[in-house]
Amino acid sequence: MLIAPSILSADFGNLAKDVKAICDGDCDFVHVDVMDGHFVPNLTIGPVVVEAVASASSKPLDIHLMVENNSFFVDLFAPLKPEFISFHIEEEKHPHRLIQKIRSLGIRPAITLNPHTSPESVEFLLADVDMVLLMSVNPGFGGQKFIPSVLERATRLKKLINRINPDCLIEVDGGVSDKNIQSLKDVGVDVVVAGSFVYKHPDGIREAISLLK
Ligand code: DX5
Ligand code: ZN
Repeated sequence: MLIAPSILSADFGNLAKDVKAICDGDCDFVHVDVMDGHFVPNLTIGPVVVEAVASASSKPLDIHLMVENNSFFVDLFAPLKPEFISFHIEEEKHPHRLIQKIRSLGIRPAITLNPHTSPESVEFLLADVDMVLLMSVNPGFGGQKFIPSVLERATRLKKLINRINPDCLIEVDGGVSDKNIQSLKDVGVDVVVAGSFVYKHPDGIREAISLLK
């Protein structure tokens, strides 16, 4: 299982230190939650702060857009050369075009599905993306409760991916802990995002990542 800690639960007064801590703890990606206060009822960080995150990070960035104007934000973040940019399918009129744009910028395109969105609705995009992010909470905040129906969605998505694009990764985001990570692995999930579990663990960041692994 690949681990992508979310810096949403980091101490923003000591952001560089908290980014280095997850990299030293051997995470696989640094998950960056970008919220615009419109698509979701919360507002986080823009390119200036993400640039500071990128400089502090020795691991590739996984940028999760939760915004209304996806193409505008892709242009803002592309110069930082993240590994992935994912955008919400619920908020994009021309997802296929945006996927092509992200790839043309040398970034791996990913699509994100809210808890109510079925995997079958993105069947005809699967050939063109490198990852599908299934939300296991409603986007906007860290520390929410895991929604178990993501297990059925991941099972159904895995079947589609096996047929259409076996290299495409499945990522799950929200409420992930050492209590549910095995159930995610069992249904074919490749990457998990974990915010509060990693940053708030009583035994520290390194131990939290190693527990998940
Ligand atoms: C929610 C974000 C998540 C969040 C996960 O909108 O996309 O990445 O930070 O936090 P936890 O792991 O605390 O649910
Ligand atoms: Zn996220």
